[in-house]
Amino acid sequence: MTNKVRNIAVFTSGGDAPGMNACIRAVVRAGIYHQFNVYGVIDGFNGLIDDDFKPMQYTSVSNIISKGGTVLGTERSPRFREKKYREIAYQNIKEREIDTIVVVGGDGSYKGVKVFSEEYGINFIGIPGTIDNDIYGSNYSIGFDTALNNIIEAIDKIRDTASSHHRIFLVEVMGNRSGVLALNSAIATGAEDVFIPERNEDLNIFEEKIKKAYEFKKSSIIIVSEGDQIGGAKELYHYLAKKGMESKVRVAILGHIQRGGSPTYKDRMMATQFGAKAIDMILENEVNKLIGTKDGKIYSYEFTETVTKQLPSNYDALKLIKKLSRY
Ligand code: F6P
Repeated sequence: MTNKVRNIAVFTSGGDAPGMNACIRAVVRAGIYHQFNVYGVIDGFNGLIDDDFKPMQYTSVSNIISKGGTVLGTERSPRFREKKYREIAYQNIKEREIDTIVVVGGDGSYKGVKVFSEEYGINFIGIPGTIDNDIYGSNYSIGFDTALNNIIEAIDKIRDTASSHHRIFLVEVMGNRSGVLALNSAIATGAEDVFIPERNEDLNIFEEKIKKAYEFKKSSIIIVSEGDQIGGAKELYHYLAKKGMESKVRVAILGHIQRGGSPTYKDRMMATQFGAKAIDMILENEVNKLIGTKDGKIYSYEFTETVTKQLPSNYDALKLIKKLSRY
């Protein structure tokens, strides 16, 4: 039997996350090392539909390890939810004889690729890439550490103003429907309290606490996850304003500053290891699986219908935050 060269493709999907480039680099270089033809697909699922495939060479991924974002581009693709566009994508893949696609993204991306794989028999491997770190089955996803460091840097600056002006800052962070980013940033910034989507806070109790804390401390940082049950930092501000605290409270919505920037050591390492693992899995024909990590080990696991974590794995973090804030 002749050794036929295998064609594979890699793309990034969903929100960009720092470290995605390090992951693309690892997939491309490890793939080339094992004599695969590697295509980079531009702008996620849209590139599959629009026939935007870039043959990747060794040097295509030079000097990208230190860059945030993704050199392949990324999109959330409503078109890919429609069968007629998935059919077009399949024809483009078939034309190039690509048998496996590696997707770096979050739960929405995984779901898209799973449906596609079932319909057309194209293999996939999912690599966790989202600052939200909310993927069921993996303790880590690419971008989380850099995003946390971005948040820390911003909040340290806000703290200067909070303490100088004796203010309470409600700082809104991302995370979609997960409070993992909020919980971890609350611990690392010494926040007084945190509002997360997974928990319904009693606002009367919060109001009492914050007033008491203000009396002896004169400033506070409260982290509010964008998906929290109150409706974000602005809603919480309106509540406190109605209770007469308007002059003392300010809102800072960190927004997309959290997602950008050069990846940290941890994100470069994890991304590189995840990328190389994907190629190992293809070589072993261990496909249609996701890559995860726990306790320093990188492994593969089966896709389940639920790929979003139901509760943050470090829920104890909440108890710690409450314990360390005096009121
Ligand atoms: O999934 C990453 C994330 O940054 C979420 O935390 C946030 O809810 C969402 O993406 C924002 O998406 P967009 O950049 O499309 O506004």
